[in-house]
Amino acid sequence: MTTGMTKIGVIGAGQMGCGIAHVAALAGYDVTLYDLSRDRTEAALATINGNLARQVASEKIAEDDRKAALSRITGSTGLGDLAPMDLVIEAATEDETVKRKIYAELCPVLNPAAILATNTSSLSITRLAAATDRPERFMGIHFMNPVPVMKLVELVRGIATEERTFETAKAFVASLDKVVTVAEDFPAFIVNRILLPMINEAIYTLYEGVGTVDGIDTAMKLGANHPMGPLQLADFIGLDTCLSIMQVLHDGLADSKYRPCPLLVKYVEAGWLGRKAGRGFYDYR
Ligand code: CAA
Repeated sequence: MTTGMTKIGVIGAGQMGCGIAHVAALAGYDVTLYDLSRDRTEAALATINGNLARQVASEKIAEDDRKAALSRITGSTGLGDLAPMDLVIEAATEDETVKRKIYAELCPVLNPAAILATNTSSLSITRLAAATDRPERFMGIHFMNPVPVMKLVELVRGIATEERTFETAKAFVASLDKVVTVAEDFPAFIVNRILLPMINEAIYTLYEGVGTVDGIDTAMKLGANHPMGPLQLADFIGLDTCLSIMQVLHDGLADSKYRPCPLLVKYVEAGWLGRKAGRGFYDYR
């Protein structure tokens, strides 16, 4: 393998972690997928299997590829299992306290030469790097959802990231057959800096009664050729994640144009977090 890496650790078996484990295993890496409980890692393997099966059904991959990829993924509930990894990608909840706690537990056991990356969609890479023992081997590798389908990966260096780390991450992304775009370490990088204010504006459009949920989504699907309407996309990303990205933009750029829509706040407070919770702007129950 051109990256010189064979073992990849993924922390967090949510939708992003599942997607990252899926594409890394398909590309031939041995993947250890960590989460807090066996229930979660087992559910993740079932999800990944289902998504691999979709790719078999549409002839994107062969049945043998599905089996081989699945056999390369091992679930784990102990961060110590990640010790021998060449690269660990943290895709835990978008909460800095949670991420710091994971780094504090992982760093003392992780192979000192390993690269530690975060899939954060908005937090400062430099600040997260400073919470590890290896800021020079730390960076942002930000995948898009759904990972098996979306071609783009944003790469973000922190202030201390070494060139060798960046080049290895770039080669890793290329080995997954994805395309890199490089973003500087500013709140929410490129994709979410542009996408989330659009989604937030769609929620304001609903809040102010300019259109209905269906009306707004149909408008953007048929009027701007977006594959999903912005409210459907918000549900798909998760409304808690959408809110946390808007808060990072609002706090980090100190501009009222990033003010999270009160309706978004209210939905999150209600636990209506979108598709994963069964309810968001749409009802999935
Ligand atoms: N795994 C594998 N394959 C998948 C998949 C998954 N999780 N989800 C969808 N697919 C495949 C389907 O099998 C299907 O394959 P074929 O065309 O080969 O049959 C294809 O993708 C299209 O899926 P569907 O037919 O089910 O539905 P669709 O045509 O409506 O497409 C979509 C679904 C790809 C999600 C499309 O609606 C889309 O591109 N939406 C926008 C997604 C987007 O904007 N993502 C970025 C979110 S922002 C982000 O991720 C950054 C962040 O930090 C928040």
